[in-house]
Parts: sequence; C-alpha cells; structure tokens
Amino acid sequence: MTARIIDGKAEAARLRAQIAVDVAELKRDHGVVPGLAVVLVGNDPASEVYVRNKATQTREAGMASFEYRLPESLSEHALLELIGELNARPDVHGILVQLPLPPQISSERILTAIAPEKDVDGLHPINVGYLAAGKAGLVPCTPLGCVILAKTVHESLQGLDVVVVGRSVLVGRPVAQLLLGENCTVTIAHSQTRDLPSTCRRADLLVVAVGRPQMVRGAWIKPGATVIDVGINRVPKDGGGTRLVGDVAFDEAVEVAGAITPVPGGVGPMTIACLLANTLTCARLRLGLSVAA
Ligand code: GUN
Repeated sequence: MTARIIDGKAEAARLRAQIAVDVAELKRDHGVVPGLAVVLVGNDPASEVYVRNKATQTREAGMASFEYRLPESLSEHALLELIGELNARPDVHGILVQLPLPPQISSERILTAIAPEKDVDGLHPINVGYLAAGKAGLVPCTPLGCVILAKTVHESLQGLDVVVVGRSVLVGRPVAQLLLGENCTVTIAHSQTRDLPSTCRRADLLVVAVGRPQMVRGAWIKPGATVIDVGINRVPKDGGGTRLVGDVAFDEAVEVAGAITPVPGGVGPMTIACLLANTLTCARLRLGLSVAA
C-alpha cells in the first residue's frame, strides 16, 4: 500500500483564504487591520527567506506587515527597546522575533519581553504555561500546523497513540501538549530513548521533529500510521547541488504509512499560515471578540 500524501501546501492555502475573509470582515465591522511585526537580526539566509515569505503572505491576507532588519552586531538593549515600542503600538497586534538570535542577545530575555497578548510565536513563558495547563492561549505555529494536518486525516484524534520524536521548546514539547489536549495518549521520545524504533512502531500518529535527515526509517513505522514530518534538512544531491529532505526516510515510509507529509510541501507551508491565524486571533482578542476553537 502506498500512503496518502498530505498536501500541506493546499491546506495552508485554504487556511490563508479563510483568514483573508475573516480579516476583511474585521476591517468592515470594526475598522481594524491586524498588524504583524517581524524582527530579523543579522542575515542568516534561511531566516531571510522565512521573513520575506511571512511579509508577502501577511499582505496577501489583507494584514499590515512591519519588517525590521537589524544588524548582526545589534545590542540586546537596543532590541529590548524596539520590543518595548512594538508592545505599545496600537497598530501592531502580533510580534515575532526570528530565531536564532546572535550570541550577545539572550533569546529568553527577548521572548519574555514581548507582551504575551502579542506573542504570535506562543513562546512567552505565560503562553507556554497556559499550554502546559491545558488553557487557551497563543500556541506555537509549527505545532498548530501539525495538529491541523493530522486532523485532515483523522476526524478526531481522541484516543490515538501518539509518539512525538524530539523535545524542543519550539516543536516537540508544544506539539505533545496540543495532542494531549486532543485526548491522545502521548509519548515524547528523544535522543536518550532506549529503543526508538520500537517506540515509534507503537504510534498511530508519529510526529518527528529532530532535525536529523531521514533518521526515521520505514521499518520504524506501524503499517497504516499517520506520519507528520517536521524536519527540513538541506542535503547534497547525487550529481551535485542540494535538496531538501525531512527527518523521515520518505521513500521507505510512504510504502508503510497510511498518510504522510512530504518535505517540502507538508508542515512547512502551514507554519506561516498559522502565524497569520495567530495574528488574527490577537486582533480579535484585543477587540474582545471570540476566537475559533
Ligand atoms: N526560527 C525557526 N523557527 C522559528 C519559529 O517558529 N519562530 C521564530 N521566532 N523563529 C524561528
């Protein structure tokens, strides 16, 4: 059996189209244009691409985009000052500081300085705490995208045995918390897990976020399982050049899984769509409006 390929690009386009409708409605009924500020320090090429795509898609959804490109040598003090200004601006509803930051700047101090109600990354300790407590808050974009994609396969995730491989603050931990909130039975596996292949084989839903190219093999997957591959790794291509691969050996996994996200075109496109969704959520909450569950 060959797995169904989960089309993250199409799902992200669908989500962005819905957001554009909701943004237009907010403008019409309340005169408010949601605004997203994205801050990039230094010129890491991958981050440059993300920031450019974020700005384009923000505008396409009818929102205002404010971009700040700052030098690699920027001091922590200067960045904290900018965040203070953005926190105070009424036209800015969401703030994202692109990670990683240069070594002279503490990402923990920066993330904590962002007003929790503008924290579209869901990385402020208050929002991390809300998620851990099972309460509503702003949740990190990539984990949210993973859950939305899993729901395109399973109408309900309730009762599924889930294994999350990776325990990062950005993906592994929050996706595990979100899936717990969906009443899954969640195992978090990591580099010290004793028998990773057999742990993975228990999963009805396997989420892999380790940053190691093609680490999860076809034989690690339960036949028919749903596989969400968060990895984006650039590797040398036969015959020269490079190509993108996930953390899962796709060609093997596609023969065993029931459904699988490709790389590229799986989880990646969902991240920015969820960032836009979070920005809209911030604007709606500021107006005292309800937000979609
Ligand atoms: N860099 C890579 N992923 C992310 C993310 O989710 N948020 C931020 N702020 N920076 C990132």
